[in-house]
Amino acid sequence: MVLRTTRTELDTDNWTMTEEAFDVVVVGSCMTDLVSQTPRLPKAGETIHGHKFFIGFGGKGANQCIQAARMGAKTAMVCKVGKDFFGENYIQNFKDNGVSTKFVGQTADDATGAASIIVNDAGENAIVIVAGANLLLGNADLLQALPALRCAKVLVCQLEVRPDTSLQALRLAQENNVKTIFNPAPAVPDLDPCFYRVSDVFCCNETETELLTGVVVANVEDAGRAGQELLRRGCSAVIITLGSQGCVVLSGQEPSSPFHHVPTEPVTAVDTTGAGDSFIGALAFYMSTYPTMPLHEIARRANQVAGISVQNIGTQTSYPSKEDLPNDLF
Ligand SMILES: Nc1ncnc2c1ncn2[C@@H]1O[C@H](COP(=O)(O)OP(=O)(O)O)[C@@H](O)[C@H]1O
Ligand SMILES: *[C@@H]1O[C@H](CO)[C@@H](O)[C@H](O)[C@H]1NC(C)=O
Repeated sequence: MVLRTTRTELDTDNWTMTEEAFDVVVVGSCMTDLVSQTPRLPKAGETIHGHKFFIGFGGKGANQCIQAARMGAKTAMVCKVGKDFFGENYIQNFKDNGVSTKFVGQTADDATGAASIIVNDAGENAIVIVAGANLLLGNADLLQALPALRCAKVLVCQLEVRPDTSLQALRLAQENNVKTIFNPAPAVPDLDPCFYRVSDVFCCNETETELLTGVVVANVEDAGRAGQELLRRGCSAVIITLGSQGCVVLSGQEPSSPFHHVPTEPVTAVDTTGAGDSFIGALAFYMSTYPTMPLHEIARRANQVAGISVQNIGTQTSYPSKEDLPNDLF
């Protein structure tokens, strides 16, 4: 593999010995959310007035990284933003949350990823995502981040950057005995089967599970059966999140591996945007901090963290920090 035989890698070997190791490295996306609240969604060619506008930080990769950082993990983000206002602003957001920006690249060739979101008073939305600079994250960026990737405790990847970039990052991690979490989001029906074999924990929601397995997930038993199918494809463990029902956890490669349903405490949800990312960020924190903790216990705690995020408005703005969480979660 090209990445293993370059001179740069020899140079970076020295670096590994002198630089700090990260608990959690995320290779993924950054997006700026531009949100307008309007009485209704506009028609083609129409201009309407909204009553509120705000800018939020999003992108699945960045969300997951920030949740892990807020819980106390030493984190680094490997991503690409534009040489523009939103890119500068996002880098400051990482710094404000204690995330290392050493591997955040800025490009003049495309704009920072953006999601233009219109939400009407009925709560329906229309969204345009322009991935922009996220799609320029590639092997050269992984090579730069290789020293950090190799000695991380946990690597987390999703599918909002080029799939071959995510797959390569997961492979590099696995070759170096770094635990991997893969979140196949946004969902795709034709996922490269190599992703299963490089996932120590394959974590997806109901929609993604249905698209990947063809199993309609209407209840916990369905999720268990779909999880068994995902395990058969080669992941070491599977977690399927089920909203207010918590999640199911499976590990071991037996075709009939039993599944654990891990329910969560009922809460009054006000905004579930980004709940899955909060769950995965918490999962990464626990896997890196407590490497021998059983996965069902990690999932029980991650349910509680994500359960707090749904009781607050916004995406990253709803993610709890260590100080906001009960001591028994640590
Ligand atoms: N209504 C809710 N009540 C309590 N916890 C929730 C609720 N919705 C989501 N969660 C928590 O967030 C996790 C992820 O939610 P889910 O809806 O499955 O993901 P996504 O954000 O991808 O749609 C769940 O496993 C659960 O821990
Ligand atoms: C699951 O995640 C996808 C993004 O991949 C999202 O569009 C969908 O609404 C989520 N599904 C559920 C049931 O939460």
